[in-house]
Amino acid sequence: MVKFEESGTVAFFNRAKQFETQGKPLIHLEVGELDFPPPSFVIRDAQEILTQRSPKYTPSWGLPELREEIGIYLEKRYRIPRPDSRSEIMVTPGAKFALFLAFSVLLDPGDECILFSPYFPTFKAIVEGIGGKVIEQSFLGLSDAEITTELQKKITNKTRVIVINSPNNPSGIIISKDLLGKIAGIISSQKNIHVISDDIYERFTYEGQVFSSITQFPEIRARTIVINGFSKSFAMTGFRIGYAIGPSQVISEVDKIQQNTVTCVNETVQLTGAKALERTNHNDADYYHYSQDMLAELARRRQFLLEQLDQIPDISIVRPYGAFYVFPKFGRIESSYEFALKLLDKGAVVTPGIVFGQFGESHLRLCYTQPIKILEQFIQILKTIYKK
Ligand SMILES: Cc1ncc(COP(=O)(O)O)c(C=O)c1O
Repeated sequence: MVKFEESGTVAFFNRAKQFETQGKPLIHLEVGELDFPPPSFVIRDAQEILTQRSPKYTPSWGLPELREEIGIYLEKRYRIPRPDSRSEIMVTPGAKFALFLAFSVLLDPGDECILFSPYFPTFKAIVEGIGGKVIEQSFLGLSDAEITTELQKKITNKTRVIVINSPNNPSGIIISKDLLGKIAGIISSQKNIHVISDDIYERFTYEGQVFSSITQFPEIRARTIVINGFSKSFAMTGFRIGYAIGPSQVISEVDKIQQNTVTCVNETVQLTGAKALERTNHNDADYYHYSQDMLAELARRRQFLLEQLDQIPDISIVRPYGAFYVFPKFGRIESSYEFALKLLDKGAVVTPGIVFGQFGESHLRLCYTQPIKILEQFIQILKTIYKK
């Protein structure tokens, strides 16, 4: 039986909701959902498509015009040969489901999956849900040499999957192209290992940092499944659309699960997604301005939060250059869960670091998906609790 744990982040969110129903106003820094609406052209396109045709079933892999745009996107953005839109691209209801499909195809019960910890909790929930075993590997604050040495030690003859998520949720860390190359080198000699590269935050980088993907390394491209989607780059969380790109043998297996579960992604959503990516692929001014404005605002918030946290003693931060999270370490706390509960009592909801794996303990994940005035209120609350 597939057996899932409750999502750690959602459990905390539900608890916070209980407080709100009791009439307590709360500051929410726990949910990784942008407070920006999707671009106005997305809403316009969706409305127009819906007035023209009511949605029908589509091929389970996704509409050809959308898969074509995804292929072009990968070619342009990642600077890799264009994936074959008929056999190597699968459209899914959100990136999370793409993850579920990929893990389900790649892992048998008892197989091991290496996760760089702290990690997005869904990775662990899915791996364990389908009977796999999670092996945590630390990376926060380690040198490249320490990371690669540890990775080599963690690989066993049961390792089947290594997950890369850069920019990373929850730490905001970007893995450099150089380090990705070294990791690719280690994996290339291990023929039974696949890589799942969750690139969902690839458009969110700051201070001139650039995104790189492990799929840019040809030696392991044939064993890499890229996961991406529309929830972050187009703030389209509620549309539920994502995609997986990988070798045809994996994608055809993934398709069998999709066919027999969700069938396909909603047709209107797929057509809207195709138009949105078409704009991105053609450097459309509307998308350019939308994404520039969003990134500029996020950069301001990130800067504010980092400056404020830097002023509080006994807090250390590995500088986050991507995504929209800060993951400070609190030198004076015993348990991140207890500390998050204390903050909740004072009206601020955050996610305790332990939810993101053993190397997340003593941290909190703070999402700067809220305006600066909310971040200011949070800092005030934090200062009242985190005293000597
Ligand atoms: C690393 C990572 N992957 C996937 C997702 C889920 O994306 P989607 O909304 O497309 O399912 C998230 C959402 O927070 C995420 O942080």
